[in-house]
Amino acid sequence: MIEGIELKQYLHELKKHTAYDFSDYSDNSIHRRILKILKDYDISMEQLIERTKSDSAFVEKVVEEITVNTTELFRDTHIWSAFYEKIYPSIKSKKFINIWHAGCSSGMEVYSNLILLNELGLLDKARVYATDINTRMVTMSKNGQYNYRFNYRYLDDFNSTLAKKPINGISKIDFSKYFDIDEDKDTMTVKAFLRKVPQFIKHDLVQEEVPFFNKFDIVFCRNVLIYFNSKLQSKIFKLFYEQMYPGSFLLLGNHEVLSGFYKTKFIKNGPVFVKNTAFHFKY
Ligand SMILES: C[S@@+](CC[C@H](N)C(=O)[O-])C[C@H]1O[C@@H](n2cnc3c(N)ncnc32)[C@H](O)[C@@H]1O
Repeated sequence: MIEGIELKQYLHELKKHTAYDFSDYSDNSIHRRILKILKDYDISMEQLIERTKSDSAFVEKVVEEITVNTTELFRDTHIWSAFYEKIYPSIKSKKFINIWHAGCSSGMEVYSNLILLNELGLLDKARVYATDINTRMVTMSKNGQYNYRFNYRYLDDFNSTLAKKPINGISKIDFSKYFDIDEDKDTMTVKAFLRKVPQFIKHDLVQEEVPFFNKFDIVFCRNVLIYFNSKLQSKIFKLFYEQMYPGSFLLLGNHEVLSGFYKTKFIKNGPVFVKNTAFHFKY
């Protein structure tokens, strides 16, 4: 058990002595995670504070523990069907399609998206940036190597969705075009032609300046803001708003909604929030 005041003090020390600020993450999730760190390392709160001040490798471990990295290939298949059927066709005539995956975890969301872009013949137009606060996740994203038996079923799930409701006559994607599979080692590795497309960058949405100059046609920030309190969410909505072109698309997680002032600055259209009002397609 840790008292709220102790938790606040730890987050204060973390902010003061490191580059990280988790003080506006939602209380419940951060509380559980700090408790887990204390238990796993069998240390007291005082010892946690001391180690945080003196051991930068340990701080990275703390960041790994605090951030939740759950992700899947083609997570929430209906989102990807919408991109395949309506969203990408609506912007296919653009010279470039600028995309930011904020909180990309191990890269599965990014590669799912790149597969669709390739299927639609739009890969050459895509300029893709993917960021995460967790260094280990950024490295995993760059490597694009995943456990085969556990993850291939998500590709099968997307194909089942297509089989039930084909999109433009397509009822199956041949995923062997995109992964090198080694059944003995139980690995599936994204092929190099896809891996070289995105720029994966370690970046903290809360603390750091945006590490690119361009604006975006699509911002994916799915299942990230759910861990932030409403004040921090508003700050991030502002950041996205400023980084997006009018008429561009913001994707949040299934259980996330726009709130506060920025609710009025986007309009929900099916699974996407559209900046201002310009609808290219209507659900
Ligand atoms: C649950 S995962 C979501 C991954 C993917 N977007 C999806 O929906 O499948 C949340 C990711 O957000 C990242 N994250 C948390 N706080 C962050 C921050 N301040 N800046 C950037 N990324 C952050 C975590 O490291 C984690 O990889």
